[in-house]
Amino acid sequence: MKRTGMRASFLVLCAALLTISACTRHSGAPGVTPRAFGTALVSVSGEKQFAGVGSQLEQPLVLQVNDAKGVAVAGAVVRLSAAGGAFATPREGLTGPDGQFTATITLGGAGGHYQIVASSPTASGQQIFMRVDESALGYQEMLGAKLNEIHCIRCHDPESTAERVSNMDNLTAKPHAFTDGAVLNPMSAADLTSIISHGGVAVNKSAEMPPYGSMLTKQEIAALVAFLRAVADPPYLAQGVNYASN
Ligand code: HEC
Repeated sequence: MKRTGMRASFLVLCAALLTISACTRHSGAPGVTPRAFGTALVSVSGEKQFAGVGSQLEQPLVLQVNDAKGVAVAGAVVRLSAAGGAFATPREGLTGPDGQFTATITLGGAGGHYQIVASSPTASGQQIFMRVDESALGYQEMLGAKLNEIHCIRCHDPESTAERVSNMDNLTAKPHAFTDGAVLNPMSAADLTSIISHGGVAVNKSAEMPPYGSMLTKQEIAALVAFLRAVADPPYLAQGVNYASN
C-alpha cells in the first residue's frame, strides 16, 4: 500500500517536472520525450524538391541523427518547422532503429522557396539545427517543370530512376543540375534563353547541349527559364524565401 502510494507520488512529480520543462523550453509544444541524444543532424533524402503551390512534395524528407562518431542514434527527437503556410507531417517524432525520421512536406500557397528547419535536442540541453530548401512553383514554372521532364532532365540530372536512365555519364561536357544556383544564378535570362534556343554552340559551350528554338515556343522557353529561377539553391536573388522562425 505504502509502496504504491510512493510510486504514484513519484509519477506525479515526474509528470509535473516534465510539464514545467516542456513549458519553459518549447512554450507549450506537445513535446515528444527523447530516449537518446545525438550531436549531428544530416539530410538523407528529400531536399531541393519542387511541386505546385500548396501541394505535397512527392518524396518524403528523411533526416538522420548521428552521434559524435557518425553512428545513427535511435530514439532521438526531431522537430520540423516551416513558414509561409508550409508544414511537415508529423511535425516531430523519434528517430527509428536506423536513426532516421521521415516526414512529408506540404508547401505554402505562394510560389517561391520554403526553408524547413529541423532541430534535435542534445544531451546538454542545446539544440542542433539543419535547414533544407524546397520550392513551390506557380503555373508558368510548373509548365517549365513538365517541359524539363520531357526534354532536359535526362542530361541535367545525374541521378537515374526506375523510369529514366541518366545520360550524364555519356557527355563530355558536364551539364549542371537545374537546382545548382551557384552556376545558374549568374547567367542572365538572355543567356539562358539563348543557350536553350540556339544550343551550347551559340554561347561558346558544348554542342552536346541541343538547340530547342524550333521545337519549343517562346512561351515554353520562358517557362523553362522561370522554372530554372524558381528551383535554384541558393535562391535566385529576385525570389523571396519563406524562412522558418526558429
Ligand atoms: C543531350 C543532353 C542535353 C539535353 C537533352 C539538354 N542539355 Fe542543357 N546542357 C547539356 C550540356 C552537355 C551542357 C553543358 C555545356 C557546356 O558546359 O559546355 C548543357 C548546358 C545547359 C545550360 C547552361 C548551364 C549548365 O548546365 O552548364 C542550360 C541553362 C541548359 N543546358 C538548359 C537546358 C534545358 C532547359 C534543356 C531542355 C529544354 C536542356 N538543357 C537539355 C546537355 C543537354
